[in-house]
Amino acid sequence: MLEVIILAAGKGTRMVSNLPKVLHEIAGKPLLQHVLDTCEGLGVDRLHVVYGYGGDSLPEKINNTEINWVLQSEQKGTGHAVDIAMSHVNDDSTVLILYGDVPLISKESLNELMRVAAEKSVGLMTARLENPGSYGRIQRDNNMYFQSIVEHRDATAEQQKINEINTGVFAAPARKLKLWVSKLGCENTQGEYYLTDIFAMAVAEGVSVETCQPFDNSEILGINDRQDLSFVERIYQKKQAEHHLLAGLTISDPARFDVRGNLVHGKDCFVDINVIFEGDVVLGDRVSIGSNCLIKNMWIGDDVEIRANSILEDSSIGELATVGPYSRVRPESEIAALAHIGNFVEIKKSRVGSGSKVNHLSYIGDSEIGADVNIGAGVITCNYDGANKYKTIIGDKVFIGSDSQLVAPVEIGKGATIGAGSTITKDVPAGELTLSRSAQQTKKGWQRPVKKKPEED
Ligand code: UD1
Ligand code: CA
Repeated sequence: MLEVIILAAGKGTRMVSNLPKVLHEIAGKPLLQHVLDTCEGLGVDRLHVVYGYGGDSLPEKINNTEINWVLQSEQKGTGHAVDIAMSHVNDDSTVLILYGDVPLISKESLNELMRVAAEKSVGLMTARLENPGSYGRIQRDNNMYFQSIVEHRDATAEQQKINEINTGVFAAPARKLKLWVSKLGCENTQGEYYLTDIFAMAVAEGVSVETCQPFDNSEILGINDRQDLSFVERIYQKKQAEHHLLAGLTISDPARFDVRGNLVHGKDCFVDINVIFEGDVVLGDRVSIGSNCLIKNMWIGDDVEIRANSILEDSSIGELATVGPYSRVRPESEIAALAHIGNFVEIKKSRVGSGSKVNHLSYIGDSEIGADVNIGAGVITCNYDGANKYKTIIGDKVFIGSDSQLVAPVEIGKGATIGAGSTITKDVPAGELTLSRSAQQTKKGWQRPVKKKPEED
């Protein structure tokens, strides 16, 4: 049995936040969720998360019934946290210890750790860092055998020079770990129960501690403040950009590319600078996305062009359509193949049929627009009477003149033409010209007023 304990009780004082540290996000996802996602596919039998600061906000936000939440109401140190959790762990299990604030740890490195933590020995992940900072230091004997971990704050000047550090991540047999954590003391500079002290106990008992290193040192970065958070965010995004570049996506600038979810793309797509992908996004082949777009939960077909500064959400765009610049497609919309959505156009919960055009300054809400329809500039579907929403239905090949309002519920028959500037409140027959507009008049000989001269006194 493999049981995982994730330590996540700390407040994270240096975040200067009311939110528990592990709820801060990388790529739009809580730090703790990154670790939980990595655990999937490790073959974990039971998952324990030690929580404390922020109380129930953590289990509520993470909302995962597979987790055994272990409350550590007072944070007395990493050793204390594991001690509490161990009462839930089966004696015959192997225990893997992870940290909720170390989000980039990879499945591959953890599998390697588990491999070195053979049957009865302890596996510890260490790393060599040019600047070992405040990490615990690894002490070895003259034969390079592992001896113990000394915390940075308790280390002598000589020990602080050691550049092999404790990542905090390790695997150990449960029966032994239970015993060791129960024996921990807190005689150190911080007065805390240091989990790291168990390693010297293991060595004293003749249990070998086998070390291994992560595939990439960035995996072991812990988040302590918002500088770390932004640093790790960029590392994460850079890795995603590299992955997509190698998979054939052209990215104008990998440093200005953000995926907060899952992006799937076909061949020969292009993404300009400052595009943000959120949730699940699927791009077909040869899709081009202009700069500064936000694309969330979208399905986008082959040869679609999304122009700059567009915001698209929970909708689909058919092949060869064009959207933008400055378009907004709101949830539950379907833009069919070859349609054109232009600048300053907002589409909400509507279907725009194939080849139809809504090119300038329009609001289309709760509407069904057929094929080959032309919607003139400034057309508004008035879908809301202040209390309820109604539908606008527009047949194929309709032409709506500019600056018209369609007051829903209303239906425009196939092939109808609406004269510019009309306010349409009743259904319109197919094939006819309908308009509502006051007659134009000219006042002959009318003079513009002239400005009066100031009176002299
Ligand atoms: C710890 C290690 C250090 C290692 C470093 C790696 C100890 C004593 N030191 O130091 O050797 O180099 O991690 O990042 O273990 N936590 C609890 N309950 C507690 C205390 C902490 O759940 O009572 C959690 C924190 O929320 C955090 C993790 O344990 O997720 C690590 O605690 P932290 O105080 O950050 O330990 P470090 O000083 O970084
Ligand atoms: Ca830490």
